[in-house]
Amino acid sequence: VLLEETSLPLFFGWFLLPGIQDKVRCTSMDFIKTLDTLEAFKKHLTDFTGEAEKEVDLEQYFSAIGALHCTTKFCDYGKAEGAKEYAEKPAVKELYGSAFELSLSALFVTPRTVGARVSLTEDQMTLWPADAEKEAESAVPAAATLPAGSRAHVSLGCAEGVEPVQTGIDLLEILALQQEGQGGELVEEMELGSLAYYGKGRWLLSLREPISAQACFSSHYG
Ligand code: A2P
Repeated sequence: VLLEETSLPLFFGWFLLPGIQDKVRCTSMDFIKTLDTLEAFKKHLTDFTGEAEKEVDLEQYFSAIGALHCTTKFCDYGKAEGAKEYAEKPAVKELYGSAFELSLSALFVTPRTVGARVSLTEDQMTLWPADAEKEAESAVPAAATLPAGSRAHVSLGCAEGVEPVQTGIDLLEILALQQEGQGGELVEEMELGSLAYYGKGRWLLSLREPISAQACFSSHYG
């Protein structure tokens, strides 16, 4: 392995500060626990269990993610396409180590993942790779037609055997359905916001008050 390659991280991203990580974890846990008790959720339980009449404990269903973060560029130590170019972008170099305020605008749950949608500001978009959405095209064909930044998220939990990269794909899938005007039937107003169902076990809670999360732009070497 070339030294030049090993000097690139596993990924770049915004890392949530410890205090806000706890708050986000608690809020998503609250959401999951409440979702589990809703009649509307029970009606679509087979999305999660694959069989009727079976119960699911969502708290147990997902395993938690380590340090909460919003990935900007997955570099895979330089093996990922465009990794070097991203690391060399002036904005990336200038803003490395700076503090940001991320806006978490929605929470979503699918049979595979739990995550929070991040609504990026114009300033934050300078750190967002232009092809982030397009890279998910094989999984979500409409991904490239969604606005830049659509994929921005914080992974909060994964079902057994599911990789965190799936969280962004699940979010893009929901946003693609929204864009097509499909699904998104309003299920109910919860204390945290409005809950909508997008079919196949996909639930999106638009937060009444977005969570403002302090985060540091940095990288992770794994
Ligand atoms: P996410 O950003 O949804 O949390 P891993 O531990 O699997 O190597 O992943 C490290 C981080 O990079 C995770 O945060 C993960 O997902 C993200 N990630 C992994 N693979 C990709 C990929 N192909 N494209 C974008 N992000 C990725």
